[in-house]
Amino acid sequence: MTPAVDRLRQDFQGLNTRYHLADGRETPRYYLDSAASTLALRCARQVADELLRYYANAHSQAHFSARIVNHAYDWAHRQVLNFVGSSDSGHHVACFAGSGSTASLNRLARALAARRPERDIVLVSLMEHHANDLPHRRHASQVIHIPLTGAAPMLGAVDTAALAQLLGQYRGRVNYVAVSAASNVTGIVNPVHDIAALAHAHGAWVVVDASQSVAHAPLSLSDTGAAERELDAVAFSGHKLYAPGSPGVMVVRQTLLEGHEPDELGGGMVDDVSVNGYQITDRFPDREEAGTPNIPGAVQLGAVLNVLQRIGMAQVHAAEQRLLRRLLAELTAIPGVRVYGDLDLDRTPRLGVISFNLVGLEHGLVAAVLNDYHNIAVRNGCFCAHPYVRELLKPELWELDLDPDADDAEALIQPWRGMVRASLGLYSTDEDIDVLLTGIHDLLANPDHYRAQYQADSDGNFHHRTFTVSAASLFDPEAAVERTLAQFSATPVL
Ligand code: ALA
Repeated sequence: MTPAVDRLRQDFQGLNTRYHLADGRETPRYYLDSAASTLALRCARQVADELLRYYANAHSQAHFSARIVNHAYDWAHRQVLNFVGSSDSGHHVACFAGSGSTASLNRLARALAARRPERDIVLVSLMEHHANDLPHRRHASQVIHIPLTGAAPMLGAVDTAALAQLLGQYRGRVNYVAVSAASNVTGIVNPVHDIAALAHAHGAWVVVDASQSVAHAPLSLSDTGAAERELDAVAFSGHKLYAPGSPGVMVVRQTLLEGHEPDELGGGMVDDVSVNGYQITDRFPDREEAGTPNIPGAVQLGAVLNVLQRIGMAQVHAAEQRLLRRLLAELTAIPGVRVYGDLDLDRTPRLGVISFNLVGLEHGLVAAVLNDYHNIAVRNGCFCAHPYVRELLKPELWELDLDPDADDAEALIQPWRGMVRASLGLYSTDEDIDVLLTGIHDLLANPDHYRAQYQADSDGNFHHRTFTVSAASLFDPEAAVERTLAQFSATPVL
């Protein structure tokens, strides 16, 4: 790890959080759930807090504070464009929307369907998060899922030969291809620029969900600078980019949005309004950002991107890859651990996300024991990517005589339909991995002991029979308000 990455990895809020465990110990939390949301980069948060000294609405113009806020908000947009290698020429527009990539992807699905209704098909990879699948199902006449390479449970990235075949088969009908830069389930990286070149050769556009990738690896709109390899639209989430509380992001070729009435109407995106009509402004990003934006969140996100660019995403990626390789090698060496997705990192590159199961143990039980006895935060379930998880689990479900393709979700027994996911961030360390491996060995050595401590509910969540901790006893917002107020007033607050 370079000194710069090493220094930065210590500047996150929540690295010293401690909890009491079921065995009476109090230990630090080991946060291995960065694929869901990352911790906050403190220095970026400080930039946003500093801005609050001057806070005003970006729709005001004349006073000092309004000018400062507008400058900072524009700066945040520029950080996004710089980060993905877009020149400031007006070719691409960066917009902030919603609180993850979902709002951006819904917006893109609607805008792109309206732009070329005669192209009625969207090709969506089988590994997508629901956010990059369901919006296309709603707005396109037909969505066809692109298969992945390999066979379950060792599936690889998007099968570009199958994609080429689909593009040929549906020549002239494919509006765009929607694909993630990296999976939120397996971390497997897709060759998005190759996919762009293939799609463009057939007149189709490419929409990339970079939510799981942008904080972990370099991502340029075009890897070589060639127009045919350039991504047409990219969406990502600030909460997966060390900036919780920040908006989602969309970077899109401006011509794809021009002439399309934005989804949301309101203040700040019109040149004039009378009782009889309104004129939407031609200015981007204003016309796509109706209403008062989340200015502190956008500036916090801009600050993260600025810091990451200074460090260099190649360094950030290299540091994570070292940990990933170690975790993958040690996990796959444990008998009784099943890791999903192609394990050959040279053939199928991944980012720092690994989903696994322990043979004979429900994913809900594993996640509960890792939390209650080892203070490890992991996520379990289907990670909002049900088609992909079903596909990865097919051989196991067949073994259990379950039909993974059944439409009725109830037909699948919940406890077996899912996985445990460990995911890395800039702050992840070898100690996190040591503790995870210890927890897994402990659980595999004592399955009956742990099973006896828990009961499962109808949703497949496991609850300890005797160790219960209410969230409010750990953090109660009401109590936090009272503590804060007590600092500046000795008298009780009404
Ligand atoms: N989409 C987030 C995840 O993958 C929440 O866990």
